[in-house]
Amino acid sequence: MTEQTRQPDTLRETVSLRPQDLFSLRGKTAVVTGASGFLGRTMAEALLSAEARVVALARSARLEAIAEEWRVRYGRDCVATHQCALDVPGAFDEAINSIVSNEPRIDVLVNNAHQLDVASGFTSEAGSLERMDFSQWSRHLDGGLWWAAHLAQGLGEQLKQARGSVVNVASMYGLVAPSPNLYSGTDMGTPPGYVVAKAAMLSLTRYIASYWGKYGVRANALVPGPFTNVGGDTENSVEGNDPFLDRLRERTVLGRLGRPEDLAGALIFLASDASSYVTGHALVVDGGWTII
Ligand SMILES: NC(=O)c1ccc[n+]([C@@H]2O[C@H](COP(=O)([O-])OP(=O)(O)OC[C@H]3O[C@@H](n4cnc5c(N)ncnc54)[C@H](OP(=O)(O)O)[C@@H]3O)[C@@H](O)[C@H]2O)c1
Repeated sequence: MTEQTRQPDTLRETVSLRPQDLFSLRGKTAVVTGASGFLGRTMAEALLSAEARVVALARSARLEAIAEEWRVRYGRDCVATHQCALDVPGAFDEAINSIVSNEPRIDVLVNNAHQLDVASGFTSEAGSLERMDFSQWSRHLDGGLWWAAHLAQGLGEQLKQARGSVVNVASMYGLVAPSPNLYSGTDMGTPPGYVVAKAAMLSLTRYIASYWGKYGVRANALVPGPFTNVGGDTENSVEGNDPFLDRLRERTVLGRLGRPEDLAGALIFLASDASSYVTGHALVVDGGWTII
């Protein structure tokens, strides 16, 4: 490591230990993918609450409606949006170029978007080990890995300049396999390409942490457990009275599903100086699913 990148070991006189400073994102800019989604919109709002400027990416027009609410609540200058289908290469690169030219700094990158629908094998027999096809697998490898890797690549210079933080959203199914018993008698299912992509996301996280540590960039994974979208309007949401939900609740040690806001503290921790010496870590927020 060169003298230029080496940081002093002692900063005691300059670092505030007050939680409102440690966890603050004031003056920082966070790029969030999938910001219109069930978890992504709470993640974006948590970052805004910690006083970050948020650059929000998503595919559909619902992003703009949500962003308008944030502008009213947090200020018009706090939110920028990029409506973009990340699986369309030209559009993806255009979004990255536009972010780089419009944002004077980028401190935080939250790679949260993923395609969780019938086309990627969710809630469909076609997503089973017996029937999966290449198109489903490529959606997971594209969305679960390439989107995150390419964004880190595209925003890398800015992240290095800011000694920034990358937060990759993985899944408990990157750590443990789904149990077939959970799904028996339902049309629910978690396709194999998804769990493989989420395990690889943990690996990508350690790689970024290892190679960019010398620039002061930290990379960590946020690992949600069962945060089922109940009664929502997406293809993978589940009706509130579905007995499948009880199976999920019983499988956790806390006896309940995760609520999007359960991720807020962990996300702010990883994004902010509160985790200044934490890198390459996987922070599991799963109600105890993976401990038993
Ligand atoms: N919910 C859970 O129980 C759970 C558990 C563990 C891990 N996770 C992880 O948490 C993350 C968010 O999950 P979620 O439940 O919030 O999913 P979600 O509600 O389906 O949201 C997915 C987000 O990704 C965006 N997206 C999907 N395909 C895209 C594309 N081709 N181009 C650009 N954006 C695209 C969507 O944009 P549009 O809204 O515009 O379509 C949406 O904002 C995912 O990485 C997921 O694997 C979720």
